[in-house]
Amino acid sequence: EESSTIEQVYRGTFVHSTPQTPLLILEDALLGVNTHGTIAFIGEGKHVKRLSQDFKFSLSDVKQMAQHEFFMPGMVDTHIHAPQYSYAGTALDLPLLQWLNKYTFPVEAHFADLKFAQQIYNQVVKRTLRNGTTTACYFATIHTDASLLLGQIANDLGQRALVGKVCMDRNDSAKTYKETSQESQEETLRFIKELLEKKYPRVSPVVTPRFALSCTEPLLGQLGAIAKNNNIHIQSHISETVDEVNVVKELFPDSKSYTDVYNKHNLLTDKTVMAHGCYLSDEELTLFRQTGASLAHCPNSNVSLCSGLLDVRNVLKHKVKIGLGTDVAGGYSASILDAARRALETSKVLTIQNPGYKTLTFEEVFRLATLGGSQALSLDKQTGNFEVGKDFDALRVNVAAPGGPIDLIKDEHPKVLLEKFLNLGDDRNIVEVFVAGKKVVPFTEKTQE
Ligand code: GUN
Ligand code: ZN
Repeated sequence: EESSTIEQVYRGTFVHSTPQTPLLILEDALLGVNTHGTIAFIGEGKHVKRLSQDFKFSLSDVKQMAQHEFFMPGMVDTHIHAPQYSYAGTALDLPLLQWLNKYTFPVEAHFADLKFAQQIYNQVVKRTLRNGTTTACYFATIHTDASLLLGQIANDLGQRALVGKVCMDRNDSAKTYKETSQESQEETLRFIKELLEKKYPRVSPVVTPRFALSCTEPLLGQLGAIAKNNNIHIQSHISETVDEVNVVKELFPDSKSYTDVYNKHNLLTDKTVMAHGCYLSDEELTLFRQTGASLAHCPNSNVSLCSGLLDVRNVLKHKVKIGLGTDVAGGYSASILDAARRALETSKVLTIQNPGYKTLTFEEVFRLATLGGSQALSLDKQTGNFEVGKDFDALRVNVAAPGGPIDLIKDEHPKVLLEKFLNLGDDRNIVEVFVAGKKVVPFTEKTQE
């Protein structure tokens, strides 16, 4: 065996997904984490003696989990606007384009103020960590220094993160919240360079054209080139509302479709994640499949802003990678558990509208929240399930946590425990959160406020 040192060993129930199976339940399993925070082995509890010899750990180091506990992979938020956390839970009375102008842009303009940015970014990273989000793909604002600060805060609190400085050189409604094409390009380059220079192990930059509506064609082209030259991620929005799709048609008359606008500018790659996609045609989904680009399904936002209903079943049929996003604050909840419930609900609404529709199962939604998200962000070599060699990104869940939202009357099967947690659980049930083997929740004294 490898000579890496085992640092943690847990014995109990583990639940996770694979590409082949949405839910695998491992009862009385034994999982070891090495000093680098990666999973060294996962075996059966009854083989503990042999495993302890093979991997050189002492039996007294094994931490036994309780009856109502299980480990699941950390959840992945494939789309969240960190600055918008400041008004989460409010301002959901307008359709997208008016909502952006009235609420979103004025709030985001305030993030020129680094003190304010520090306060909100601390709050959102802590809240999402407590909610079990071990990996988050963030939009920041157009401000480079505040965006770098978000990267620093995610690193310091131990969250795996993609962070994007937002680009928008076309915003007719706000003189105070837009950039010139040149600023947008130069500041994106500075953002990437300075974030990479920090050498944060799990925080990376992502090229972030806000959406086609807020970017000129030259800027879209430049951002496609920047992503390619630096071999980095890309994120944006696509086909969220009917009005938005119609404006894109007007602004880009030479493009066959909304998807074509991005594809023309080399913005669809296997490191691209696009939020929403409610109104994509089968032809557009095929283009996603061919380029390896993925979708972030944000069901809370889609319903809260009355945007649309994404047909996840059809996305899966096209073999397009897909994960869940909170889309704070179009979505009012910063919890992927909430996104999972909304995804089920949206699928049930589609079933009501269309009898015979194949409703998503809770197992499938569990996979979207974990492995699916990691695939959507092309981070599935690092995270997403308990495969040996991946980082130990995990939630220790106690379904019967004292003072928590769930009452149990007897010992339930782990599948029942997981289903109850997905439907009824909250952060009170998430008793520990690990990212790359490091315990990031509960917060240490240093990170406590
Ligand atoms: N499209 C462009 N910007 C945004 C945003 O901030 N939120 C949502 N939901 N859609 C967008
Ligand atoms: Zn969004």
